[in-house]
Amino acid sequence: MAYNTLLLETNEAGIAVLKINRPKNLNALNAEVLGELRAAFEALDSDPAVKAVVITGEGEKAFVAGADITEMAEMSPLEAKEFARKGRETLLFIGGMKKPVIAAVNGYALGGGLELALACDFIYASETAKLGLPEVTLGVIPGFGGTWMLAKRIGAARARELVYTGKVIDAQKAALWGIVNEILPAGDLVKAAVETAAKTAKAGGLAVAAAKDAIANGLETPEYETALFSVLFATGDQREGMKAFTEKRKPAFKGE
Ligand code: CAA
Repeated sequence: MAYNTLLLETNEAGIAVLKINRPKNLNALNAEVLGELRAAFEALDSDPAVKAVVITGEGEKAFVAGADITEMAEMSPLEAKEFARKGRETLLFIGGMKKPVIAAVNGYALGGGLELALACDFIYASETAKLGLPEVTLGVIPGFGGTWMLAKRIGAARARELVYTGKVIDAQKAALWGIVNEILPAGDLVKAAVETAAKTAKAGGLAVAAAKDAIANGLETPEYETALFSVLFATGDQREGMKAFTEKRKPAFKGE
């Protein structure tokens, strides 16, 4: 499918690289981008040829510099509610996908941009990345899930400091605080994220999907992991994975 605001390429290993393509506006998320992101993630999740997704921003300056302020400026409370619902549901869809999604933050990830990155499984960032939730400086608060996603990721105290001040932090501080997993030179960022995505793809899909589900939904419910673990024993991938180990060969997973 062709998109107005997104670029999409999938390599032979089934790793899709999705780029938000509004570099003149620092890839700000307007209603059109949000709609296309939702459609693109739905299509990627249901495409059996796609094993994992890397999302990044076009251009050298920004991953996403936030929700589109010019579009939000004149919104009524009801319009703002609908805009936030659309953003929140798109981001929740990413968290609920069966496939890993890695954010490759190649510059500014502010407001809705950081929220989008936080909705992904984990974040790799360039050395020049700048991250923050500056919404209070605009007289609002994060609207796509930033308050609770950040608090869940790094704890309430650090989330409060970032959200109340709106301050922007660099990649080093973001890594120290547990927002970013890896920091890379800008030129290596997407390649490194694609390599990690390819490692997850080797597992054939079912086990990684179960792991994603367990971490997303089982943190408060220990038996949830047990249920997912046991269901995997009804799959060919489990038999193949363990048989391959005993036969000292690489497994040939079929995702079934
Ligand atoms: N929305 C709309 N347009 C944006 C934008 C945004 N979030 N961020 C940048 N742009 C536009 C600028 O208006 C500018 O457009 P023009 O060339 O037409 O003037 C263009 O992108 C380039 O930006 P700058 O000239 O400002 O670039 P800079 O290098 O001087 O500054 C920046 C970069 C510090 C990221 C600055 O652009 C900035 O502060 N942007 C806004 C960041 C922000 O507040 N984000 C949070 C938005 S609110 C939100 O996201 C709510 C939510 O949770 C749902």
